[in-house]
Amino acid sequence: MVELLAVICTLFSALAFVYLLKYRNKNKQDSPHKLPPGSMGWPFSGETLGFLKPHRSNSLGSFLQERCSRYGKVFKSHLFGSPTIVSCDFEFNMYILQNEGTLFPVDYPKVMHNILGKFSLLLVKGDLHRKLRSTIISFVSATKHESNFLHCVEMLALSRINSWIPISKQVAFYEEAKRFTINVMMKHLLNINPDDPLAFKILGNFENYIKGFISLPIRIPGTAYFKALQARIRLSAIIKDIIIERRKCNNVRPMQGGDLLNVILSKKNLSDEEMVSIVLDLLFGGYETTAKLLSLIVYFLGGASNALESLKEEHQEIRKRKKEGELLNWEDYKQMNFTQNVIYEAMRCGNVVKFLHRKAIQDVKFKDYVIPAGWKVLPVLSSGHLDPTLFENPLEFNPFRWNDNSTSKKVAPFGGGPRFCPGADLAKVETAFFLHHLVLNYRWKIRTDDPPLAFPYVEFTRGLLLNLEPTA
Ligand code: HEM
Repeated sequence: MVELLAVICTLFSALAFVYLLKYRNKNKQDSPHKLPPGSMGWPFSGETLGFLKPHRSNSLGSFLQERCSRYGKVFKSHLFGSPTIVSCDFEFNMYILQNEGTLFPVDYPKVMHNILGKFSLLLVKGDLHRKLRSTIISFVSATKHESNFLHCVEMLALSRINSWIPISKQVAFYEEAKRFTINVMMKHLLNINPDDPLAFKILGNFENYIKGFISLPIRIPGTAYFKALQARIRLSAIIKDIIIERRKCNNVRPMQGGDLLNVILSKKNLSDEEMVSIVLDLLFGGYETTAKLLSLIVYFLGGASNALESLKEEHQEIRKRKKEGELLNWEDYKQMNFTQNVIYEAMRCGNVVKFLHRKAIQDVKFKDYVIPAGWKVLPVLSSGHLDPTLFENPLEFNPFRWNDNSTSKKVAPFGGGPRFCPGADLAKVETAFFLHHLVLNYRWKIRTDDPPLAFPYVEFTRGLLLNLEPTA
């Protein structure tokens, strides 16, 4: 036993020595341009645990704060098993995202590859990325103003909000927001109603699917990763069956616009696997992110009575112009200026997505430094949002700041460049319509302090429990 330990220790020390030598030499070789300053942490694990340590999502967290003040906004580290350059510099982040195709392609961790599948938009590159993305963009741009879509969003928002009336009083808001956003996506993409048994089947599998993204890649029955892989297989089978059924119906009755499935079925250049992947990507992209945004807004408004009052006034004005029970339309949405400020401010302050994964495919010069080919590159979106040189009192939730034209526009909650979020407009409409009915019908108090935490994706550890009171 002692011998075995000695062998393991010697092996470990030797590997650690080789590892340190390798990165020290790399630094020397790159002269006259050197690597950005920073530390590589422990051999193998690097600094990943420190980087992922949860913190309030409206703060940078101690890891980034300490390193930015010690090394500057761009520094080196060792994260997710790779030597990494972390960028907290807004301009450089935009440069990284704009040059996605040529210098800094996406590089999501391996654990995500099997779960997302090889055709996922987040993983594919080049022509395949352009082909799949253009299908999504054309669907979103064609449907976002459509009254069918807008009415569907509003009816689903109303049905969630009205479901609180008899039980009332206490609501786990994050769960409610998730139910609303998955219902919108299932209806909009696949024409499945919330009370359809298939909706429950999809929802159950989807919860397991999503948990896999923050799991260790251990393929043993019972682990979160294994359950996520199984869930993906089941979800693919469900979507494939729906595709087969829809093809049969469409042969009898030709397709007429409608949901995403009809749109993708009309494209002759997509395989069945690619179609399934598009549906899963949109379900995944449109579910938790929008629910987190809604929850952030509810959380921040809970402590900002002036902003809540202004928001309510804007929606009361819109109601005054409409007949009793008349549904909202695109023109109403365009009048929701303060609502847009609230949405932007919640994204700036709350940071639904903290950072993105990229990789340098050639040596790239940045100021006096070089970003070496093969290194991981992480643009941290939250760093610009919370930068005191860009925003006055950056930690404060203050939607009124957007009324001032001189406020910096340097925010990128939906990313940038060729991978800019294709669902941004859908997320904003869903949020605005839900807020319309929420602020007109309810006042709320947050029951226990439950600040949004960066895990690194935003989480409300207690589910954001609210005490509700009807306004009328
Ligand atoms: C508040 C809500 C949302 C936020 C903050 C958000 C944020 C983002 C960000 C930052 C990216 C860029 C990823 C990267 O560059 O690596 C992205 C990509 C993406 N988002 Fe969103 N998103 C939201 C809502 C949505 C919705 C509603 C959908 C679908 C209906 C969606 C679908 C996607 C897809 C498919 C991609 C991949 C795009 C590509 O790689 O070309 N997102 N999102």
